[in-house]
Amino acid sequence: MPITVVRTKAELRSEIARLTAEHGGRRGATPSLGLAPTMGALHNGHRMLAEAAVAANDVVVASVFVNPLQFGDPKDLERYPRTLDADAALLDAIGVDLVFAPSVEEMYPGGEPLVRVTAGPLAEKWEGASRPGHFDGVLTVVSKLFHLASPGPVAGRPVAFRAYFGQKDAQQLAIVRRMVKDLDFPVDVVGVPIVRAEDGLALSSRNQFLNDGDREAALVLSRALRLMDERATAHQPLEPDDAVALIKSQPGVELDYFEVVDADTLEPLAFNCRETPFTGEALAIVAARVGEVRLIDNMPLKAS
Ligand code: PAJ
Repeated sequence: MPITVVRTKAELRSEIARLTAEHGGRRGATPSLGLAPTMGALHNGHRMLAEAAVAANDVVVASVFVNPLQFGDPKDLERYPRTLDADAALLDAIGVDLVFAPSVEEMYPGGEPLVRVTAGPLAEKWEGASRPGHFDGVLTVVSKLFHLASPGPVAGRPVAFRAYFGQKDAQQLAIVRRMVKDLDFPVDVVGVPIVRAEDGLALSSRNQFLNDGDREAALVLSRALRLMDERATAHQPLEPDDAVALIKSQPGVELDYFEVVDADTLEPLAFNCRETPFTGEALAIVAARVGEVRLIDNMPLKAS
Protein backbone atom coordinates (compact mmCIF):
# COMPACT_ATOMS: atom_id res chain seq x y z
CA MET A 1 0.00 0.00 0.00
CA PRO A 2 1.44 3.43 -0.90
CA ILE A 3 2.57 5.66 1.90
CA THR A 4 0.03 8.08 3.40
CA VAL A 5 1.05 11.69 4.06
CA VAL A 6 -0.99 13.49 6.71
CA ARG A 7 -0.85 17.14 7.67
CA THR A 8 -2.90 17.34 10.85
CA LYS A 9 -2.60 15.95 14.36
CA ALA A 10 -6.15 14.55 14.15
CA GLU A 11 -5.33 12.60 10.96
CA LEU A 12 -2.09 11.36 12.52
CA ARG A 13 -3.96 9.96 15.51
CA SER A 14 -6.68 8.29 13.45
CA GLU A 15 -4.17 6.80 10.95
CA ILE A 16 -2.06 5.43 13.80
CA ALA A 17 -5.16 3.84 15.35
CA ARG A 18 -6.14 2.35 11.98
CA LEU A 19 -2.65 1.08 11.07
CA THR A 20 -1.90 -0.45 14.48
CA ALA A 21 -5.32 -2.16 14.49
CA GLU A 22 -4.66 -3.54 10.98
CA HIS A 23 -0.99 -4.50 11.29
CA GLY A 24 -0.29 -4.65 15.04
CA GLY A 25 1.18 -7.99 16.07
CA ARG A 26 2.19 -9.10 12.56
CA ARG A 27 5.81 -9.49 13.68
CA GLY A 28 5.36 -11.18 17.01
CA ALA A 29 3.42 -11.32 20.22
CA THR A 30 3.72 -7.63 21.09
CA PRO A 31 2.33 -5.11 18.59
CA SER A 32 4.77 -2.25 17.94
CA LEU A 33 5.04 1.20 16.43
CA GLY A 34 8.29 2.96 15.42
CA LEU A 35 8.68 6.73 15.07
CA ALA A 36 11.50 8.36 13.09
CA PRO A 37 11.48 12.14 13.65
CA THR A 38 13.21 14.20 10.91
CA MET A 39 13.30 17.66 9.42
CA GLY A 40 13.19 16.27 5.87
CA ALA A 41 15.70 16.76 3.03
CA LEU A 42 16.35 13.10 3.61
CA HIS A 43 19.67 11.42 2.79
CA ASN A 44 21.13 7.98 3.46
CA GLY A 45 21.64 8.82 7.15
CA HIS A 46 17.90 9.27 7.57
CA ARG A 47 17.36 6.20 5.42
CA MET A 48 19.18 4.08 8.03
CA LEU A 49 16.91 5.45 10.74
CA ALA A 50 13.79 4.55 8.78
CA GLU A 51 15.21 1.14 7.81
CA ALA A 52 16.00 0.30 11.44
CA ALA A 53 12.43 1.27 12.39
CA VAL A 54 10.89 -0.78 9.55
CA ALA A 55 13.00 -3.82 10.47
CA ALA A 56 11.77 -3.87 14.07
CA ASN A 57 8.17 -2.60 14.09
CA ASP A 58 4.71 -3.49 12.75
CA VAL A 59 3.92 0.12 11.87
CA VAL A 60 6.36 2.95 11.16
CA VAL A 61 5.68 6.68 11.18
CA ALA A 62 8.21 9.27 10.00
CA SER A 63 7.74 12.94 10.78
CA VAL A 64 9.00 15.67 8.47
CA PHE A 65 8.89 19.05 10.17
CA VAL A 66 11.39 21.90 10.07
CA ASN A 67 10.99 23.02 13.67
CA PRO A 68 11.42 26.81 13.99
CA LEU A 69 11.93 26.55 17.77
CA GLN A 70 15.33 24.91 17.38
CA PHE A 71 16.82 27.47 14.95
CA GLY A 72 18.64 30.47 16.38
CA ASP A 73 19.31 32.14 13.05
CA PRO A 74 16.24 33.01 10.93
CA LYS A 75 18.39 32.80 7.75
CA ASP A 76 19.36 29.23 8.64
CA LEU A 77 15.68 28.36 9.09
CA GLU A 78 14.76 29.99 5.79
CA ARG A 79 17.44 28.25 3.75
CA TYR A 80 16.79 24.81 5.27
CA PRO A 81 15.93 22.58 2.28
CA ARG A 82 12.30 21.45 1.98
CA THR A 83 11.75 18.47 -0.32
CA LEU A 84 8.60 16.70 0.91
CA ASP A 85 7.70 14.86 -2.33
CA ALA A 86 11.15 13.30 -2.64
CA ASP A 87 11.19 12.53 1.09
CA ALA A 88 7.83 10.75 0.91
CA ALA A 89 9.01 8.71 -2.10
CA LEU A 90 12.18 7.64 -0.27
CA LEU A 91 10.24 6.67 2.86
CA ASP A 92 7.68 4.81 0.76
CA ALA A 93 10.42 2.74 -0.92
CA ILE A 94 11.79 1.74 2.50
CA GLY A 95 8.39 0.56 3.69
CA VAL A 96 7.43 3.38 6.07
CA ASP A 97 3.63 3.43 6.49
CA LEU A 98 2.87 7.03 7.35
CA VAL A 99 4.43 10.50 7.04
CA PHE A 100 3.40 13.29 9.39
CA ALA A 101 4.25 16.61 7.73
CA PRO A 102 2.45 19.34 9.67
CA SER A 103 2.58 23.06 8.99
CA VAL A 104 4.10 25.37 11.61
CA GLU A 105 0.55 26.58 12.44
CA GLU A 106 -0.62 23.00 12.97
CA MET A 107 2.23 22.26 15.37
CA TYR A 108 2.16 25.62 17.16
CA PRO A 109 -1.39 26.95 16.72
CA GLY A 110 -1.03 29.76 19.25
CA GLY A 111 2.33 30.88 17.88
CA GLU A 112 5.49 29.97 19.79
CA PRO A 113 4.62 27.88 22.88
CA LEU A 114 4.89 29.68 26.21
CA VAL A 115 5.76 26.47 28.04
CA ARG A 116 8.77 24.49 26.84
CA VAL A 117 10.76 21.47 27.88
CA THR A 118 14.18 22.60 29.07
CA ALA A 119 17.24 20.46 28.60
CA GLY A 120 19.13 21.79 31.64
CA PRO A 121 22.87 21.44 32.19
CA LEU A 122 23.33 18.77 29.49
CA ALA A 123 22.57 21.49 26.96
CA GLU A 124 24.98 24.07 28.31
CA LYS A 125 28.08 22.79 26.58
CA TRP A 126 29.29 21.61 23.16
CA GLU A 127 26.52 22.28 20.63
CA GLY A 128 24.40 24.00 23.27
CA ALA A 129 27.12 26.54 23.99
CA SER A 130 27.05 27.91 20.47
CA ARG A 131 23.30 27.41 19.92
CA PRO A 132 21.44 28.83 22.95
CA GLY A 133 17.89 27.47 23.20
CA HIS A 134 18.48 24.88 20.48
CA PHE A 135 18.03 21.79 22.65
CA ASP A 136 14.98 23.24 24.43
CA GLY A 137 13.46 23.65 20.96
CA VAL A 138 14.37 20.07 20.08
CA LEU A 139 12.96 18.61 23.31
CA THR A 140 9.77 20.63 23.03
CA VAL A 141 9.00 19.35 19.52
CA VAL A 142 10.19 15.81 20.32
CA SER A 143 7.92 15.60 23.36
CA LYS A 144 4.99 16.83 21.26
CA LEU A 145 5.79 14.17 18.65
CA PHE A 146 6.03 11.49 21.35
CA HIS A 147 2.56 12.43 22.60
CA LEU A 148 1.05 12.71 19.13
CA ALA A 149 2.45 9.40 17.83
CA SER A 150 2.06 7.42 21.04
CA PRO A 151 -0.04 4.36 20.12
CA GLY A 152 -3.08 3.31 22.15
CA PRO A 153 -3.74 -0.36 22.92
CA VAL A 154 -4.86 -2.75 20.17
CA ALA A 155 -7.52 -5.30 21.15
CA GLY A 156 -6.70 -4.67 24.78
CA ARG A 157 -2.96 -5.25 24.24
CA PRO A 158 -0.43 -2.42 24.81
CA VAL A 159 1.60 -1.42 21.74
CA ALA A 160 5.40 -1.12 22.15
CA PHE A 161 6.52 2.39 21.16
CA ARG A 162 10.07 2.97 19.87
CA ALA A 163 11.65 6.21 18.63
CA TYR A 164 14.74 6.29 16.41
CA PHE A 165 17.50 8.91 16.68
CA GLY A 166 20.88 9.07 14.94
CA GLN A 167 24.18 8.79 16.76
CA LYS A 168 25.28 11.58 14.38
CA ASP A 169 23.69 14.08 16.79
CA ALA A 170 25.21 12.50 19.89
CA GLN A 171 24.28 15.33 22.25
CA GLN A 172 20.69 15.36 20.98
CA LEU A 173 20.50 11.58 21.50
CA ALA A 174 21.89 11.85 25.06
CA ILE A 175 19.48 14.67 25.94
CA VAL A 176 16.43 12.90 24.47
CA ARG A 177 17.36 9.72 26.38
CA ARG A 178 17.65 11.76 29.55
CA MET A 179 14.29 13.48 28.98
CA VAL A 180 12.60 10.10 28.49
CA LYS A 181 14.19 8.82 31.69
CA ASP A 182 13.61 11.92 33.82
CA LEU A 183 10.05 12.59 32.62
CA ASP A 184 8.87 8.95 32.24
CA PHE A 185 7.91 9.04 28.58
CA PRO A 186 6.57 5.58 27.67
CA VAL A 187 8.93 5.16 24.70
CA ASP A 188 12.15 3.24 24.02
CA VAL A 189 14.79 5.43 22.40
CA VAL A 190 16.88 3.55 19.84
CA GLY A 191 20.22 5.02 18.69
CA VAL A 192 21.25 4.40 15.07
CA PRO A 193 24.97 4.46 14.06
CA ILE A 194 26.35 7.29 11.92
CA VAL A 195 26.17 6.84 8.16
CA ARG A 196 29.23 8.20 6.34
CA ALA A 197 30.09 8.92 2.71
CA GLU A 198 32.79 6.69 1.21
CA ASP A 199 35.45 9.31 1.95
CA GLY A 200 34.49 9.27 5.66
CA LEU A 201 32.47 12.50 5.87
CA ALA A 202 29.39 12.01 8.10
CA LEU A 203 26.25 12.55 5.99
CA SER A 204 24.40 15.76 6.77
CA SER A 205 21.94 17.94 4.90
CA ARG A 206 24.43 20.78 5.47
CA ASN A 207 27.12 19.05 3.35
CA GLN A 208 25.47 20.41 0.20
CA PHE A 209 26.70 23.90 1.21
CA LEU A 210 30.36 22.77 1.10
CA ASN A 211 32.34 23.53 -2.08
CA ASP A 212 34.88 20.94 -3.36
CA GLY A 213 37.77 22.46 -1.41
CA ASP A 214 35.74 22.68 1.81
CA ARG A 215 34.67 19.10 1.45
CA GLU A 216 38.25 17.90 1.05
CA ALA A 217 39.30 19.96 4.09
CA ALA A 218 36.36 18.63 6.15
CA LEU A 219 37.73 15.09 5.91
CA VAL A 220 40.26 15.99 8.61
CA LEU A 221 37.44 15.68 11.18
CA SER A 222 36.74 12.00 10.57
CA ARG A 223 40.50 11.39 10.25
CA ALA A 224 41.06 12.89 13.72
CA LEU A 225 38.24 10.76 15.16
CA ARG A 226 39.67 7.64 13.53
CA LEU A 227 43.06 8.40 15.12
CA MET A 228 41.38 8.25 18.55
CA ASP A 229 39.51 5.10 17.57
CA GLU A 230 42.72 3.34 16.48
CA ARG A 231 44.43 4.24 19.75
CA ALA A 232 41.42 3.18 21.84
CA THR A 233 41.19 -0.16 20.08
CA ALA A 234 44.95 -0.68 20.50
CA HIS A 235 44.62 0.11 24.21
CA GLN A 236 47.02 3.06 23.92
CA PRO A 237 46.82 6.50 25.57
CA LEU A 238 44.51 8.60 23.37
CA GLU A 239 46.45 11.87 23.57
CA PRO A 240 43.56 13.98 22.17
CA ASP A 241 45.99 16.90 21.70
CA ASP A 242 47.31 15.04 18.64
CA ALA A 243 43.81 15.05 17.12
CA VAL A 244 43.49 18.77 17.91
CA ALA A 245 46.86 19.47 16.27
CA LEU A 246 45.86 17.47 13.19
CA ILE A 247 42.65 19.48 12.77
CA LYS A 248 44.40 22.81 13.41
CA SER A 249 46.99 21.97 10.73
CA GLN A 250 44.23 21.82 8.10
CA PRO A 251 43.74 25.15 6.29
CA GLY A 252 40.09 26.16 5.89
CA VAL A 253 38.96 24.41 9.06
CA GLU A 254 38.20 26.43 12.18
CA LEU A 255 38.01 24.09 15.16
CA ASP A 256 35.32 24.80 17.76
CA TYR A 257 35.84 21.82 20.08
CA PHE A 258 37.36 18.36 20.14
CA GLU A 259 36.89 16.27 23.28
CA VAL A 260 36.69 12.75 24.61
CA VAL A 261 33.60 12.51 26.81
CA ASP A 262 31.29 10.10 28.60
CA ALA A 263 28.49 9.29 26.13
CA ASP A 264 25.71 9.77 28.71
CA THR A 265 26.87 12.74 30.77
CA LEU A 266 28.94 14.40 28.00
CA GLU A 267 31.57 15.24 30.63
CA PRO A 268 35.24 15.14 29.48
CA LEU A 269 37.17 12.01 30.39
CA ALA A 270 40.59 13.62 30.56
CA PHE A 271 41.79 11.22 33.25
CA ASN A 272 41.32 8.31 30.89
CA CYS A 273 43.01 9.84 27.87
CA ARG A 274 46.55 10.88 28.58
CA GLU A 275 49.55 8.76 29.51
CA THR A 276 47.54 5.82 30.80
CA PRO A 277 46.38 3.16 28.32
CA PHE A 278 42.76 3.72 27.29
CA THR A 279 40.27 1.35 28.90
CA GLY A 280 36.49 1.05 28.76
CA GLU A 281 34.28 3.19 26.54
CA ALA A 282 33.95 6.84 25.61
CA LEU A 283 32.83 9.15 22.84
CA ALA A 284 35.12 11.45 20.82
CA ILE A 285 33.20 14.55 19.68
CA VAL A 286 34.15 17.35 17.33
CA ALA A 287 32.67 20.53 15.88
CA ALA A 288 34.28 22.86 13.37
CA ARG A 289 33.41 25.53 10.85
CA VAL A 290 34.39 24.64 7.29
CA GLY A 291 33.66 27.38 4.76
CA GLU A 292 30.16 28.61 5.53
CA VAL A 293 29.12 25.45 7.33
CA ARG A 294 29.36 24.27 10.90
CA LEU A 295 29.96 20.52 10.96
CA ILE A 296 29.69 18.07 13.85
CA ASP A 297 30.91 14.49 14.04
CA ASN A 298 31.71 11.89 16.68
CA MET A 299 32.92 8.34 17.15
CA PRO A 300 32.30 5.84 19.95
CA LEU A 301 35.60 4.55 21.39
CA LYS A 302 36.05 1.12 22.89
CA ALA A 303 39.21 -0.54 24.13
CA SER A 304 39.43 -3.96 22.58
P1 PAJ B 1 17.37 15.89 11.28
O1 PAJ B 1 18.58 16.74 11.27
O2 PAJ B 1 16.51 15.83 10.04
O3 PAJ B 1 17.79 14.43 11.66
C1 PAJ B 1 16.81 13.42 11.84
C2 PAJ B 1 17.51 12.22 12.44
O4 PAJ B 1 18.42 11.67 11.50
C3 PAJ B 1 18.32 12.57 13.70
O5 PAJ B 1 18.07 11.63 14.73
C4 PAJ B 1 19.75 12.52 13.20
O6 PAJ B 1 20.70 12.19 14.20
C5 PAJ B 1 19.66 11.44 12.13
N1 PAJ B 1 20.79 11.55 11.20
C6 PAJ B 1 21.16 12.63 10.47
N2 PAJ B 1 22.30 12.37 9.78
C7 PAJ B 1 22.66 11.11 10.09
C8 PAJ B 1 23.77 10.26 9.71
N3 PAJ B 1 24.71 10.67 8.88
N4 PAJ B 1 23.81 9.02 10.24
C9 PAJ B 1 22.84 8.59 11.12
N5 PAJ B 1 21.79 9.33 11.50
C10 PAJ B 1 21.70 10.57 11.00
O7 PAJ B 1 17.70 15.87 14.26
C11 PAJ B 1 16.73 16.44 13.78
O8 PAJ B 1 16.38 16.37 12.46
C12 PAJ B 1 15.78 17.27 14.64
O9 PAJ B 1 16.49 17.85 15.70
C13 PAJ B 1 14.58 16.46 15.18
C14 PAJ B 1 15.03 15.33 16.11
C15 PAJ B 1 13.74 15.89 14.02
C16 PAJ B 1 13.66 17.41 16.01
O10 PAJ B 1 13.23 18.46 15.23
